[in-house]
Amino acid sequence: GKVRAPTHIISTISDERGEDQCYGGVSMSSIIEKGYGVGGVISLLWFKRSLPHYCTQFIEMCIMLCADHGPCASGAHNTIVTARAGKDLISCLVSGLLTIGPRFGGAIDDAARYFKDAHDSGLRAYEFVEGMKKKGIRVPGIGHRVKNKDRKDKRVELLQKFARTHFPCVKYMEYAVEVEAYTLSKAKNLILNIDGAIGSIFLDLFAGSGMFTEQEIDEIVKIGYLNGFFVLARSIGLIGHTFDQKRLKQPLYRHPWEDVVYTT
Ligand code: ACO
Ligand code: LMR
Repeated sequence: GKVRAPTHIISTISDERGEDQCYGGVSMSSIIEKGYGVGGVISLLWFKRSLPHYCTQFIEMCIMLCADHGPCASGAHNTIVTARAGKDLISCLVSGLLTIGPRFGGAIDDAARYFKDAHDSGLRAYEFVEGMKKKGIRVPGIGHRVKNKDRKDKRVELLQKFARTHFPCVKYMEYAVEVEAYTLSKAKNLILNIDGAIGSIFLDLFAGSGMFTEQEIDEIVKIGYLNGFFVLARSIGLIGHTFDQKRLKQPLYRHPWEDVVYTT
């Protein structure tokens, strides 16, 4: 009989073998004709399903709102220094991306994990925050270097307004707002930041869209898909900063001596 050669790779998200390649089983022609947009393509390639329009709109909002946050944020700073060292586009981009992590832009998955766990186990907001303090863990999704109670993050407000208007249920988002109310009573800069807003609202997207089983939500949260949104979005800004520095023909960057405390 026929002997099938063993395969080395299994792939479940795309297939380029036909004339009209497919993302998640949907052909390029349909994607273009039906106007899937970037949010629709992300739904197919990351979540392997066509999400409702309000979900893909929300995904696109996250990407637009996280695309950049000025030259002083960690990622852009690294990219600018790298561009001024004369490096190529990819090096400039990855040097910025490498700053994304638990303190900067990469707290979305942990925010979703902790908010979900605390909400689903019935912890009141203050019990959750105090419990984290006892464990010596900063609450992911809370706190900002330059935003505070009197200088709130407009991006967070825009995402929350969209979710309140279009999502069938925003229980996790409201839980995060309760957490913020408690942390703000402790210090004025302990706002719900953009990572916390995205993490909490995505939990509502998963739970309320009817497109995911409980098991699938647990798997997505455990694997950690959500930092991907910040990585993808911020790449747009980091590429922009690279072009900007090159266009401006900026020289090699050297940090000023006056800004360093030498203790030797
Ligand atoms: N949870 C609890 N307490 C906190 C938190 C938090 N998330 N953030 C700050 N504090 C408290 C702590 O008591 C801290 O003291 P410690 O250093 O002894 O732990 C105190 O506030 C002082 O911290 P700040 O100087 O205000 O914080 P800093 O400016 O150094 O850090 C940061 C800001 C990194 C965002 C911090 O708030 C944090 O780690 N947050 C959690 C991670 C997070 O959500 N990052 C994403 C930010 S948004 C973005 O990057 C796109
Ligand atoms: C960002 O989006 O980069 C921020 O919220 C973090 C910062 O330092 O501005």
